[in-house]
Amino acid sequence: MNPQHTATKRVSAIKYAIRDVVKFAKDLEAKGNAITYLNIGDPVKFDFDTPKHLKSAVCKAVKEGENWYGASEGIPELREAICRKEKRSNGIDLVPEDIVVTAGVSEGILLTMAALIERGDELLVPGPTYPPYTSYSKFFGGNPISYRTIEEEGWQPDIADIESKISTKTKGIVLINPNNPCGAVYDPKTVAEITELADQNDLIVLSDEIYDRIVYEEQFSSTARVAKDSSIIGLNGFSKVYLATGWRVGYLYFHDLDGKLDEIKEGVKKQARIRLCANTPIQKAAIVALNGPQEHIQQMVTKLRKRRDYAWKRLNQIEGITCTKPKGAFYLFPKVHGVGQQWKTDLEFVLEVLRETGVLFVHGSGFCETYGARHFRSVFLPSIKTLAHAFDLLEQFMIAKKS
Ligand SMILES: Cc1ncc(COP(=O)(O)O)c(C=O)c1O
Repeated sequence: MNPQHTATKRVSAIKYAIRDVVKFAKDLEAKGNAITYLNIGDPVKFDFDTPKHLKSAVCKAVKEGENWYGASEGIPELREAICRKEKRSNGIDLVPEDIVVTAGVSEGILLTMAALIERGDELLVPGPTYPPYTSYSKFFGGNPISYRTIEEEGWQPDIADIESKISTKTKGIVLINPNNPCGAVYDPKTVAEITELADQNDLIVLSDEIYDRIVYEEQFSSTARVAKDSSIIGLNGFSKVYLATGWRVGYLYFHDLDGKLDEIKEGVKKQARIRLCANTPIQKAAIVALNGPQEHIQQMVTKLRKRRDYAWKRLNQIEGITCTKPKGAFYLFPKVHGVGQQWKTDLEFVLEVLRETGVLFVHGSGFCETYGARHFRSVFLPSIKTLAHAFDLLEQFMIAKKS
């Protein structure tokens, strides 16, 4: 190929299994096959609608002329509302200067990684993890190192494994709590142990808490609340809890008592300025989301709990599949015992299930080659009727493969 036409090596590091598998389903759909998509964690694509008052707030903002470029770090009123929300829900003390409003947590991850990761730096990420943490750290020349989370203990982080993987090159530790893809809600004692390790080694903790209010049994404890005086970059947003995935609004906060994060914070703010600002009318509606009625959250969690219970039970009834019970978010991460024998890889398993049943899952190695292999991820967002149909097909598939 003409060298002028080659793409950078950087972009070859980008993988996002959750959407990368869609092309296989689209090919089958084009040939007339019906597909049940259980790959993407978008509640709004199922029967969870964006609350009416929030839809009206966007329309009102546009009609009233709130269509200008806003402050790069976010509209001040929204940053104030975020401080109040983090205090109310998660017990964290923040001031508006600690907040940067982003185009979803996705942009928050990108801005953080760009300010944090230098060539050769290591970042400890949960194994399995939400893929952008590995992809973006590689994109900036870093080495993501997966630490074990323990399946038999509901995918809680393995402290000894984290400790053994801290090196002179380690820059930080990522926590995703509640967790995507495993559905774990971390024990506050475990979170405290991780932040102590981070403090002892002068590491920064990145805490992704986008599912903070989608928990089924355990109380969720925010990392900054548990750690109190560690240096923490928190990531949160509106996609899941406020049922507004397509709005693309989220935020970062810097919980930092001794100024350790000042340079990184400024690095993030510089990037915020060069990309001008997040979407203004949506930020106006995000203020209404935080300050207005919250009833939809409990309703959503109640509906999801029933679906979680059904899906978890059904999957464990299928021979050759076992699954730990998710405690938060809306994902299941079952193990397929035949991977390594009947199927060479979990990707091969997922693609064969897709071809033969029309149900699309995501292969576990797409979340971590080491700790996610031999698993797959399914959402439990659809109605019980749709879940029943998908798991009936999966069950028939597994029975047919046995004989
Ligand atoms: C853990 C986690 N972080 C971030 C995101 C992306 O969120 P946003 O829609 O705010 O970009 C997701 C989406 O699935 C997620 O699961």
